[in-house]
This record gives sequence, structure tokens and C-alpha cells, in this order.
Amino acid sequence: MKAVILVGGQGTRLRPLTLGTPKPMVPLANMPFVSYVLEHLKKNGIEEIVFSMGYLPDGIKSYFGDGSAFGVKVTYVVEDRPLGTAGAVKNVAEHISDHDFMVLNGDILTDLDLRALIDFHQKKEAMGTIALTPVQDPTAYGLVRTGPAGEVLGFLEKPSWDQIDTNLINAGIYVLKNEVLDMIPAGIEYSFERGVFPRLVGKGLFGFGSECYWMDIGTPEKYLQAHYDILEKNVTTSVSACLDKDFVCVQGKIELHNGAKLVPPVMIGEGTRIEAGARIGRMAVIGPGCVISAGSVVEESVIQEGSTLEENVVVRRSIIARGAQIGRDTVVTAGAIVGEEAKVGGENILANNIRVYPRTVIQEGTIKF
Ligand code: GTP
Repeated sequence: MKAVILVGGQGTRLRPLTLGTPKPMVPLANMPFVSYVLEHLKKNGIEEIVFSMGYLPDGIKSYFGDGSAFGVKVTYVVEDRPLGTAGAVKNVAEHISDHDFMVLNGDILTDLDLRALIDFHQKKEAMGTIALTPVQDPTAYGLVRTGPAGEVLGFLEKPSWDQIDTNLINAGIYVLKNEVLDMIPAGIEYSFERGVFPRLVGKGLFGFGSECYWMDIGTPEKYLQAHYDILEKNVTTSVSACLDKDFVCVQGKIELHNGAKLVPPVMIGEGTRIEAGARIGRMAVIGPGCVISAGSVVEESVIQEGSTLEENVVVRRSIIARGAQIGRDTVVTAGAIVGEEAKVGGENILANNIRVYPRTVIQEGTIKF
């Protein structure tokens, strides 16, 4: 079976992380996010993959190449304008064989049993099967109502509590019969969620619910949560093996001063230097080639590749993107994001979900909130 991975979106909710890097290439526990999707597909026996791209495609192509380094075969199709989820699949139709195929949103971290999903789809002889996942707050999502045999009865968009009779949502993973392609108009923006699926209700559309791990990394909060879940092994990924029984993953050679502390769960990328009195963790991922200077503290945060924290910096529940520099005694906290290669001078306080855009320069002591 072939899989189409949709990676054409701009990832606006994850800005500024996605301004210079497309969402699929944003590092999650030190690997481009979409490589988790690839390893999950391969583990489930799906090795032919079509990337449907639009926004910033070049980095994805040069990283994955023909896919052989990852044990899969990859084909790329770039849209000249956004076609929506279904329009994007129609656009890659020539690369899909006559059989059933899978479609995945490129921003989902899951350990869903894809083989069980395919088996279910084939046993039902379904036109389409939507993977479903339960959520705690059903009012925030589009819900999918199913009948006793799993047949989809209808969709409820952001319902009020009195309308709710299910907590299952569309998990962004589908198995479809080739005939579904005939329902999608060519060359225009068209969506599965609003276009194709409502038309398929009562005509062979099924839902496959499961209690697997599922997270879409589309917002900064969920991006951080996905890191915490990987670090705690709430989801099984290739990183799980590196996190030893002490929940410490050190990738290759690092420089760790005797007086520095790693508090698990924690992950440190290759070539990073951690100086005296620094404390990393719990729940911290430091990318490769970073410098964490003396006395700095990183908790519940992500520091991407090649970033530098000068002395006595504190980073809590925040994200520092690739190549950023944070000056001494600065505090980055409460959902702040510092964009790629930004330079933040010393003695600033960045808090309250502040977004620092890539390559911005903030002088010493200018921001205090
Ligand atoms: P936001 O702008 O933050 O909503 O993120 P997004 O652009 O990724 O949109 P969304 O999360 O709704 O998209 C779900 C998945 O579909 C992501 O993997 C997107 O890359 C992908 N996607 C969304 N729209 C398109 C499109 O027009 N073409 C292609 N090829 N993929 C798309």
C-alpha cells in the first residue's frame, strides 16, 4: 500500500518556528518531525511514500532524498498553490496505484496500529476508513458519530455539551479506495473533512477508533507536550531506545562539566557543551552543538540545534529555535518562543507566550515581561 503524507501547509499556528523551517522539518526530540511519520509507516510495512508539498519544499526533499537512507521509497509532488487536503491528494493521483491507499496529515505523532486500520478497512470493504481518536474536550473539535458496525453516521463541528454523544475525532489518517479520487475535483482547493467525507456518509464510510497515543503538533503547547511524551515514553518512537532505564538520552559525544546536573527525563544532542553549575531537566531536550553556559537552567523546554545560553540564563516551558543566542541572566519562560538565529541580549525577561521572530536582535535589558 502507498501512503500520501500531506506536508503542504504553512503551519501558521507554530510560527515563528515555521517561518524559515516547514513544519515537517521542525525538530521533535532532535529529529525532523516527519521522520517519525516515516518510521511509523515503515514499522507497519508501508514503504512507498508520496510527499504532497507546497510551502518550503526544498529542505524536505534534500533531507529525505529518494528515501533509501530511511528504508523507504519517496516521491515528491509540489503544488503551485494550496489545494486543501483532498485537492492535494487528487494532485498526486498519478503516483497512486489502482489499489487502496493511505493518507496521513504530516503533523500527527501516533503509535496507531496502521495494519489493524487497513485490516478493518478491507474487512468492511469500505470506500473510506477514518482513524478516530478520543479527546477529553469534545467541544473544541469536529466529532465523528459512528454506528454499531463502525459506519460513520455524521459529523458534528465544535458542538455544545448537550449535543455531544461521542468523544471521537478525525485523527487525520485515512485508508481510501482508489474510486474516492473520482469524487475530488481537479485543480481546485477541496477538503476531505468538509468535502469528501460528508458526501460519503451512508456510502461505505467507516470510522476506526482506537486508544493509541495521538497528538497533532500544530501548536507550541502541543509541540512541547509531544516532547514530554517522547521523553516519558508515553509514545514509542526510535528515541525510546536511547532513553535508557534512567530516562537520560545522550546522543554521541558531549562535554558535561562535573558540576553540571542532568535531571531526567532529559535528552542532549551530540557535541553540546554543558558548563559548571548548569541544570538541564526535567523534561528538557537540547539539540546538537549547543552551549549551555555556567549556572544556566533549562526545564520543560526545547533548545534547538546550535543555540547558546550564556551564564545564568533560565529557560522554562519555552522554545529556543535553531542557532539563537540568549544573553546572561535572561529569563525565557511561560510559553515564550525565540525564533531561529535571534540574538537576545542579557538581563531580559521574555514571558507570556512572547514570540521573537527569526534573526531579531533584542538589546540588553529592554524587555521585562
Ligand atoms: P496551521 O496553519 O497552523 O493550521 O497548520 P497547517 O498549515 O499545517 O494546516 P493543518 O494543520 O490544518 O493541516 C493538516 C495537515 O495537512 C498538515 O500536515 C499540512 O501540511 C497539510 N495541508 C494542509 N493544507 C494543505 C494543502 O493545501 N496542501 C497540502 N499538500 N497539504 C496541506
